[in-house]
Amino acid sequence: MSKPTLAVIGGTGAEGSGLALRWATAGYPIVIGSRSQEKAAAAAQEMNGKLPEGSAAVSGQANGDAAANAEIVVLSVPYDAQAATLDQIADGCQGKTLITVVAPIKPPKVSQVWRPEGGSAAQEAQARLGENVKVVAAFQNVSAEELKHLDHSVECDILITGDDKSAKQQAIELAAAAGLFGIDAGPLLNASVVEGMTALLIGINIRNKVKGSGIRITGIPRP
Ligand SMILES: NC(=O)c1ccc[n+]([C@@H]2O[C@H](COP(=O)([O-])OP(=O)(O)OC[C@H]3O[C@@H](n4cnc5c(N)ncnc54)[C@H](OP(=O)(O)O)[C@@H]3O)[C@@H](O)[C@H]2O)c1
Repeated sequence: MSKPTLAVIGGTGAEGSGLALRWATAGYPIVIGSRSQEKAAAAAQEMNGKLPEGSAAVSGQANGDAAANAEIVVLSVPYDAQAATLDQIADGCQGKTLITVVAPIKPPKVSQVWRPEGGSAAQEAQARLGENVKVVAAFQNVSAEELKHLDHSVECDILITGDDKSAKQQAIELAAAAGLFGIDAGPLLNASVVEGMTALLIGINIRNKVKGSGIRITGIPRP
């Protein structure tokens, strides 16, 4: 069965490019989205040069076009850029699943949990996009540093929250495609806990002088 095309909005950055690299390797056609079409095309060209044989193709488009031309949209931009980016892609997301990777981090206190007014970045995204978009929060706890190395397995589970079961199943499948174990962690209301964990992990990275600490859920069956 052919795999759905994924738009990775902010796929020019650290986290989005790591995910895009893994998904393209697993055979998912990727459209990297950027504020600049030229920047997206350059990032896509660079990624195509790194992909192993048999990978799907990566292309690059401006954010709005990338969302419109994909079946599933992944949002991977800094929290401060979320609202403006959502306004660029809102039309293209209607009727689709949007998987948000956004973790709200407030520099300079990057290792302290900070909750946005709407409860979580993911709930704010849902409110901004409207009920016709199935928003799922996932991948907040996996480090870009880990994702970019295709040659090793990543020791981090993916907690997935959202209000639509089929959309969460899409995220679970995408986690597996990236070599990760996705776990349904309940409704989108729970996204605030997962987003907050990112600040904890940044602090753990700093104190342990590492770049890629992660989380593991124990006591459940694994494939
Ligand atoms: N890095 C990690 O290890 C990691 C781990 C877990 C979760 N996350 C979360 O994933 C998201 C992306 O993280 P990242 O490290 O990939 O971020 P990033 O590299 O700083 O930014 C990603 C992309 O977002 C766009 N962007 C940046 N600043 C912007 C602005 N002011 N306005 C509009 N667009 C802007 C840029 O794309 P264009 O210039 O091409 O438009 C940029 O390439 C964040 O919410 C982060 O908290 C990151």
